[in-house]
Amino acid sequence: MNFKKTAETLIKDAHTLEQDYYINPDILQKEYENIFLKNWICAGRSSDLNEKGQYKVINIGTESVIVLRGDDGELIAYYNVCRHRGTRICEKESGQFSKSIQCKYHGWTYNLNGQLFGAPNMDTVDKFNKNDYSLHPVTIAEWDGFMFINLSDSPKEFETAFAPLMNRFSHWSIADLAVHETKQYIVNGNWKLVIQNYCECYHCPILHPDLAAIHNYMGGHNDLYEGPFLGGYMDLNEDKESITASGQLCCPPLDGVKGDNLNRVYYYSIFPNMLLSLHPEYVMYHTVWPEGIDKCKVTCSWLFSKQTVDSGEYKTSDAIDFWDMTNKQDWYISQLAQLGIRSKKYFPAPYSGQESLLAAFDKHYLSVLNQSV
Ligand code: FES
Ligand SMILES: [Fe+2]
Repeated sequence: MNFKKTAETLIKDAHTLEQDYYINPDILQKEYENIFLKNWICAGRSSDLNEKGQYKVINIGTESVIVLRGDDGELIAYYNVCRHRGTRICEKESGQFSKSIQCKYHGWTYNLNGQLFGAPNMDTVDKFNKNDYSLHPVTIAEWDGFMFINLSDSPKEFETAFAPLMNRFSHWSIADLAVHETKQYIVNGNWKLVIQNYCECYHCPILHPDLAAIHNYMGGHNDLYEGPFLGGYMDLNEDKESITASGQLCCPPLDGVKGDNLNRVYYYSIFPNMLLSLHPEYVMYHTVWPEGIDKCKVTCSWLFSKQTVDSGEYKTSDAIDFWDMTNKQDWYISQLAQLGIRSKKYFPAPYSGQESLLAAFDKHYLSVLNQSV
């Protein structure tokens, strides 16, 4: 693989984004239309939905999607919109359907395949055919145990869109890992501030002294540095084994992680709303969801091998608590960034060599935001 150092790839004259991108609700609207409703977005782990009929609801802007495990065990997704008078069907974030999906208004009822089979008194309506009123499907894909949905009416094929990531993380066998812990956070800052903050360690010595003691903030090596997927690895300091409170492994390394990967942590941002962090013994991922121009919801999950989780022998909290602390430091500074950026005295300023991925993120973001399709 051809690794390049961060400083070598800074886009010439790269500056931070204009203020509007963080404070103007019209921009958020455009982001929904051109980014979140047209691209593949991470909707969690397929193991979130283990049972037939188990569902979760993904709300994004004015859209809402029901993602569920169907009768045949497959993952399916529908717009959360009744085909009668449009009423939102599911209100809860997650739940379990018995064998059908019923709208609370007039009781139109759909099977788990989204087909309308119950529509009280509609048989007297001329030419009414239940087959014409199935729930509108949403395209769904699964990769490494993650679910992705795409609300475009003509989505790019997942395998094509994600080609640079296919098999890239096979050593970690992420599909086989179990979600051990999930935390949700509300951040009073624009969603892009969370992504941008993740894409650099320039802030590590000041904001995260404990993290900075584990890996050198100047030691980033990016292997993906343009386009929708950005990131690379950081070498752990010689006396460190992982990102945990002690700096040591909190459980045995994952089976396929060998050689150099035992001394590295890999960080990737996956456009638009996912962050993926691979450690020798565990994987962490974030999803980021705008909730207004100056607020977002972040989920963070920690994945371990099933043996580690089942054994209960290991102090996995060393990893979880360390990152929970680090997350909160990141949200704190992102909120201060949002406050400052609102000022009439905020102007774009140059990125440093350690912020090349932010420049790359901004470039890709602007190209997608401004595409006219
Ligand atoms: S709006 Fe759903 S049954 Fe009438
Ligand atoms: Fe940070």
